[in-house]
Amino acid sequence: MSALTELYRKIAACTDCEELARARTQTVPGNGPEKPQIVFIGEAPGYHEDQEGRPFVGQAGQFLEQLLNSIGLKRSDVYICNVIKCRPPNNRDPLPVEVKNCQKWLDQQLEMLSPKMIVTLGRYSLARFFPGEPISKIHGKAHKQDGIIYFAMYHPAAALHQQSLRQTIEADMLKIPALLTQMEPVEEVKKEDKPQQLSMF
Ligand code: URA
Repeated sequence: MSALTELYRKIAACTDCEELARARTQTVPGNGPEKPQIVFIGEAPGYHEDQEGRPFVGQAGQFLEQLLNSIGLKRSDVYICNVIKCRPPNNRDPLPVEVKNCQKWLDQQLEMLSPKMIVTLGRYSLARFFPGEPISKIHGKAHKQDGIIYFAMYHPAAALHQQSLRQTIEADMLKIPALLTQMEPVEEVKKEDKPQQLSMF
């Protein structure tokens, strides 16, 4: 059994958030290749994800797939997961304590996946990797730290509700291929001198 499969087993047995553990059909740890170049991180599973056990299988997922296709990628080329691994009942916002409880899973997952690029989708993953930064200011900009490229995007579901964001999300996605190839030689920001102002490229 791979380390990632073993992690999925532990996630499936997690009862740290009583309400979520009681209400879920199953946990939705994430899916994709075990050594992906890119990891996309959303918020939390919705109804369809909870039913199927896979992230982004509903309408937002279909749009995410279209976005991936626009840069020549298939869903199976990338790893997709969420900040929260269980569906919050009635799709309510995850609680801060739930985000905190679930952080260990995402941390271990990223350590194992060791991607070249992490793309945040929406405000929960944004808050985790770009704390305090408004999405309106940093979407579509990349920041390299400790060898990983971080890139913030609006949540695909936002485009379903707000047509004006659709073009923004599409344009941001188109920047990804060049970032993956162009950001190799840039000077990295070291963990110990984490800037207040993120350095953006
Ligand atoms: N929205 C998310 O953030 N994650 C999913 O898995 C589905 C919709």
